[in-house]
Amino acid sequence: MTLSRKRILLGVTGSIAAYKAVELLRLLTKAGAEVQVVMTEAATRFVAPLTFETLSRQEVLLDMWSLAYSHRIGHLEASQRAQLFVVAPATARTIARLALGLADDFLSCIYLASRCPVVVAPAMDCDMLEHQAVRENLARLRDRGVHIVEPDTGPLASGMVGRGRLAALSEIVGRIRLILTPRQDLEGQTVLVTAGPTREPLDPVRFLSNRSSGKMGYAIAEAAAARGARVILVSGPTALAPPPGADVIRVETAEEMYRAVLAELESAGVVIKAAAVADYRPTHKADNKIKKGGALSEVALEPTPDILAELGKRKGPRILVGFAAETDDVLANARAKLQRKNLDLVVANDVGRVGAGFDVDTNAVTILDATGGTEELPLLSKREVADRILDRVTALLRRAA
Ligand code: CTP
Repeated sequence: MTLSRKRILLGVTGSIAAYKAVELLRLLTKAGAEVQVVMTEAATRFVAPLTFETLSRQEVLLDMWSLAYSHRIGHLEASQRAQLFVVAPATARTIARLALGLADDFLSCIYLASRCPVVVAPAMDCDMLEHQAVRENLARLRDRGVHIVEPDTGPLASGMVGRGRLAALSEIVGRIRLILTPRQDLEGQTVLVTAGPTREPLDPVRFLSNRSSGKMGYAIAEAAAARGARVILVSGPTALAPPPGADVIRVETAEEMYRAVLAELESAGVVIKAAAVADYRPTHKADNKIKKGGALSEVALEPTPDILAELGKRKGPRILVGFAAETDDVLANARAKLQRKNLDLVVANDVGRVGAGFDVDTNAVTILDATGGTEELPLLSKREVADRILDRVTALLRRAA
């Protein structure tokens, strides 16, 4: 009964996947949660409120104006009691309402009034999911701290095959469990994470860099802090908010990252190098802006220090995790990196694949270990990938203890 007595509000919206919410309700109550359901009007066209009412043994919240609620402001009471609000399935319309903060139905009022963690599991046709409006709305919710459980790929109600199916219920329940009963399996550990790109200046206004957004490294830092670790995040330039609970050291160049990592190394039992460090830098940085028409037809480059290789040389009992961003021979190149840099794990990333790699919120990776094992993960949110990597790290820590 891992969710014993946890008070969960389940929002159901008008998607063909609404019937799956019935099973989700059953799984949550089976795990011990006390679940109350709130439905949009459209959801009632797919599943009768009576179904949810019977299974939850609680009244279904539907009508903001019903007399029964007028004296106790139903949406406030429901949202104040809840420890988590999950909307599954979430249609494009409800996602838009939540993103905009519209308060025109019971469900969206509850969202605005709630102070608890919110989980949104979208379900819609693949073309709708790919529309910029929906993507922007989801990004807005994500930026606000809403947990998005990414939809799966498969046959859709429209007859098409693509991304948009409601995520597996086990995935949604797993995420809820993680939020409500976070593992503290990294308590007492210091985890050093690097994230983002580096910038190698050519002159005061120009630099060489790469497409890394920092999202993967920030997700790892956030997940490690949630699991009880002290987290030091050495971050290249990104547009991301600092992850809650992490000490952030901001750097710009590979050289600065190298120095910051070495300065913090002593206390770290785990180092995860998600940063996309520039391999080369200009040999010379001009003091003044290089003017057009000047003699800049070639830029001389020199290698930057390979931070991870250096850490591999000084490894000791420390757990070292590297990333391998590849476009071809992904696994072979990743394994070569693991050996060359003396790593415990390498996370191989096919950056040419849609939905994986740079500046997206999802990732599809394969984790390779030093004993020759490979674990291929499906397309997951970066936060989920982060937790899977940390699961492997904690397993290694347990083995070493
Ligand atoms: N890395 C590092 N310092 C560098 C370059 C890379 O610490 N100067 C780390 C990255 O943080 C990542 C891993 O090494 O964890 C692999 O980075 P990647 O760019 O994929 O590989 P490289 O070693 O640079 O090799 P190549 O560019 O030839 O693929």
